[in-house]
Amino acid sequence: ALVSLRQLLDHAAEHGYGVPAFNVNNLEQMRAIMEAADRTGSPVIVQASAGARAYAGAPFLRHLMLAALEEFPHLPLVMHQDHGTSPAICQRAIQLGFSSVMMDGSLSEDGKTPTSYDYNVSTTRQVVAFAHACGVSVEGELGVLGSLETGMAGEEDGVGAVGKLDHSQMLTDPEEAAHFVEATEVDALAIAIGTSHGAYKFSQPPTGETLAIERIRQIHARLPNTHLVMHGSSSVPQEWLKLINEYGGEIPETWGVPVAEIVEGIRYGVRKVNIDTDLRLAATGAIRRAFGQNPAEFDPRKYLKQSVDAMRSVCIARFEAFGAAGQA
Ligand code: G3H
Ligand code: 13P
Ligand code: ZN
Repeated sequence: ALVSLRQLLDHAAEHGYGVPAFNVNNLEQMRAIMEAADRTGSPVIVQASAGARAYAGAPFLRHLMLAALEEFPHLPLVMHQDHGTSPAICQRAIQLGFSSVMMDGSLSEDGKTPTSYDYNVSTTRQVVAFAHACGVSVEGELGVLGSLETGMAGEEDGVGAVGKLDHSQMLTDPEEAAHFVEATEVDALAIAIGTSHGAYKFSQPPTGETLAIERIRQIHARLPNTHLVMHGSSSVPQEWLKLINEYGGEIPETWGVPVAEIVEGIRYGVRKVNIDTDLRLAATGAIRRAFGQNPAEFDPRKYLKQSVDAMRSVCIARFEAFGAAGQA
């Protein structure tokens, strides 16, 4: 059944688990996510980005989500719009039937420049006013997402390219977060705690201190009733990188956010965990392997089925690790 983000995350907070929010662009991702949720009995958040809309078109994305609800009516599902860059975009998503929208006022409408705090508050607040009137939840964002290692915000996904920043500029300030939530009344808040979008998060293997856990704890202490959201939460599994490169890929060495650290973040108040890159890597690895092992095959259903199996295994692992399994 369709539920709002607030409904779903209130349950997650009450029972102390986190929910992976997977990006969807096509049928194969949607099937993989839903089959994984069905097998593990997990609640679902599926999210559509601007890139997804450009690729599939808003009506196809909407109907993919509606098809998921129709085939799996027993699972609670949030239709979420990822990284809305203006109130107009959020309004359109609500009109399409989305039960949750992200107003990302931390960046300008073209997604390129960090905005002022006042701009962020006023755009986010506008969205909350009309979204709440429709029973739709709102996620806001405060802080600049980027790698603490390089001081660079992720560029590869087109979400942000803001140049070099120091650590203090890159972590969400707990006091500012408290004011932001009071001023906007958002249901969920995306915070900058050391993650960045895309596959190239860290150039060194993790040391166990990838996330600013203490910062998460401080923000949660100030905002116990606001659900914290972690963007850029892909773990960039080394086994998928290896498989891609074994079958002709050329992905340089890179590391993501270890699942164990995300689980720790969930202990301190993170409830929504955004994952896109890991499913892209799994799909690519599976398809490269299928092409390598069976070059005579030309029925796309055969190799795309391999990608569904690969993505499903990643989704199952995340539902289980975050404690969402069995909560639907
Ligand atoms: O936040 C970024 C997501 O990974 C979506 O990326 O705009 O390429 O679909 P995209
Ligand atoms: P990843 O690139 O780490 O998968 O993050 C996705 C995301 O935050 C979508 O909003
Ligand atoms: Zn994001």
